[in-house]
Parts: sequence; C-alpha cells; structure tokens
Amino acid sequence: MSVALAFDIYGTLIDPHGVVDELSKHVGDRAWEFSNTWRDKQLEYTWRRALMQRYENFPVCTRQALDYTDMLLQTGLDESAKAALVQVYRVLPAYDDVPASLQALADAGFHLFGFSNGVEEAIVGLLEHAGIDQYFEGVVSVDALHTFKPDPQVYHHFIEVADTARENCWLVSSNGFDVIGAVSAGMKAAWLRRSQSVVFDPWGVEPTLVINGLEELKYKITL
Ligand code: LAC
Repeated sequence: MSVALAFDIYGTLIDPHGVVDELSKHVGDRAWEFSNTWRDKQLEYTWRRALMQRYENFPVCTRQALDYTDMLLQTGLDESAKAALVQVYRVLPAYDDVPASLQALADAGFHLFGFSNGVEEAIVGLLEHAGIDQYFEGVVSVDALHTFKPDPQVYHHFIEVADTARENCWLVSSNGFDVIGAVSAGMKAAWLRRSQSVVFDPWGVEPTLVINGLEELKYKITL
C-alpha cells in the first residue's frame, strides 16, 4: 500500500527565521522581534485573504507583511533592504534533521511531496537550494486553487494529486493550524514539535501523531 507524505514547507522543512542574520544588518537587536511579527502577519494575511476570497499569492502576502512590520516597528527599511530580505526568503535554509530524514523515508518507499502555501516555483527553488529536491515526487501548491491552508479544499486537492487512498495520506507539519486543517479534512497528520515550548490549539482535534524530530517518522508511520 503506498503512503503519501505531504510535507509542509515553511516552519517544517525550511526555517522562515533564516532571515534573522540579514535582518540583524538592518534592524540590529530587533531582528528576532521583526522576524516573529513578519511571520505571524504573513500567515494572518493568508487566512484573511482566503476568508474574504481576495486571493493574492504567498509572495504578495509575504511582501505586504514585511511592509506592515516595518511600519509597525518603525524600522525605516528602504527599498534595497526590503529587496535583500525578500531575496533571502528565496534561499532560506532547511532545518538540520531534514536531509537525512527525507533520504531515509524515500529509501524506505514512502512517497514524498512538498505541500505549501508558497508558489510552486519558490518551493522548488528552496528544495533545490537546500539540496533535497531529489527526494520529492512533486510539489503541491495551494496557488492552483487560489486559496490558502487551512481551507479544506487544499487538503482534498492534495489527496487527489497524490492519487493515494485518503487513509494513506499524511500531512507532516509543525504548524498546528495546518495539522487541524488536515485532520478535519480527513487526512492523517503528524505534528512536528520543533520546540518544547510550543502548545497545540485546544480545539478538541488532535494530531494523529506527535513527533519531536523528523527522524521519528520512519519508525512511527507504517508503510
Ligand atoms: C506553508 C506555510 C503554512 O509552507 O508555512 O504552507
């Protein structure tokens, strides 16, 4: 029986806070505060745009969240600083546990997909830059549907593209809202707890599996 693993990208395989070094050059010791606000606002914009049916793609949400954060924190970034930050976003690093874990899963016979709010071209670029693109059978982007996670449509779309029985489709994500979205839409979902300080939303919808590192997946999901 084939098992399809849908890997969330930002926060799960690729570190969105990989911009902190570049941010430090522009905003000094406010880099982490800036990065956290930028990421929170980026996600908020995706949710609001999906709810309002006013779709603009993920790079637009990211850029508008950058402009908002700059205004909120009064950091006065000029156009060249913003361009440099957007450029770093295209080459963000993978987390340390990613390459070896993906290789082990691919070798074991799992079918791996990237599954993201990001546009396909940006996701392929990130996977290539991190040297992990060879493990994936494809990239499934919400951009095809002009909506965002956790709209149930995007999880149904994944199941269709993966061409695998729903009970064998797993989301792997560190983002709690994504895990709840997938489980609600009938997928299984592994919540990757990248930090022990994060908590799961108490909505009464639980992850199928909780893991503390990607290397655990191979032992905890049966092929
Ligand atoms: C993604 C967002 C949720 O990669 O980070 O889809």
